[in-house]
Amino acid sequence: MLVSAKEMLNKARAGHYAVGQFNINNLEWTKCILQTAQELQAPVILGVSEGAGKYMCGYTTIVGMVEGMIKELGITVPVALHLDHGTFEGAKACINAGFSSIMFDGSHYPIEENIKLTTALVNTCDVLGISLEAEVGAIGGEEDGVVGAGECADPKECKMIADLGVTMLAAGIGNIHGKYPENWAGLSFDTLEAINKEVGEMPLVLHGGTGIPEDMIKKAISLGVAKINVNTECQLAFQAAVRQYIEEGKDLVGKGFDPRKILAPGCEAIKATVKEKMEIFGCIGKA
Ligand code: 13P
Repeated sequence: MLVSAKEMLNKARAGHYAVGQFNINNLEWTKCILQTAQELQAPVILGVSEGAGKYMCGYTTIVGMVEGMIKELGITVPVALHLDHGTFEGAKACINAGFSSIMFDGSHYPIEENIKLTTALVNTCDVLGISLEAEVGAIGGEEDGVVGAGECADPKECKMIADLGVTMLAAGIGNIHGKYPENWAGLSFDTLEAINKEVGEMPLVLHGGTGIPEDMIKKAISLGVAKINVNTECQLAFQAAVRQYIEEGKDLVGKGFDPRKILAPGCEAIKATVKEKMEIFGCIGKA
């Protein structure tokens, strides 16, 4: 059964570790993440962007796939199925489809609009027992080759959104989606500390987990981060492993053309990446 992310994140925040959100792209991704979480007895959050949602044939398909896998693979650790960077419409669609956790990203709206739309989702999620993530301060990222620096959220605005009754809060602290550029200034711990003071015990979310050095991750956790999102790093690990399989000509030998064989090294690479992240986040054995 899918669960809300509320309990796992409150426990993580109190216990000074973080739960990983790993984004899924297909059946293999989902299976590898669930198997690793079960093997390591770690709670886990499966992230679905709206684009990945379309790719996987819609939100109801994804709910069916994940619920089926939990049953067939005998997964007993807490699993939340979470919409990543949702629009208001996307959030409503995922609530209807049976997601157990939602992110509404209103960070690109003026704060009044972000408050209005986030508020409209707080009550629905509360009644249905669905966890809700809100965002203040846009996360930077690479778009058409132009790398935008991550914004730093205004701590007072963070408090305004946290006070609406959301479960967890994503706040920009100089973090960026995708690979970090050579000249990246690092996370702004002054900003994180100020936000943490404002929001009390609310679990904070660190997006752009790919490539953040271990010491920065640990410091962020010590300042209230209880959920860390990882996407690109699994993609890069998968890509490198599948590339090697093909480059070594293994697809040309015997039944090496079988898609299950071609994807197998990529799957092992995803599992290794998830394990490595869970070790750093400190969530192993916390299920
Ligand atoms: P990365 O792709 O940089 O790991 O970021 C993932 C993320 O924050 C998803 O919301």
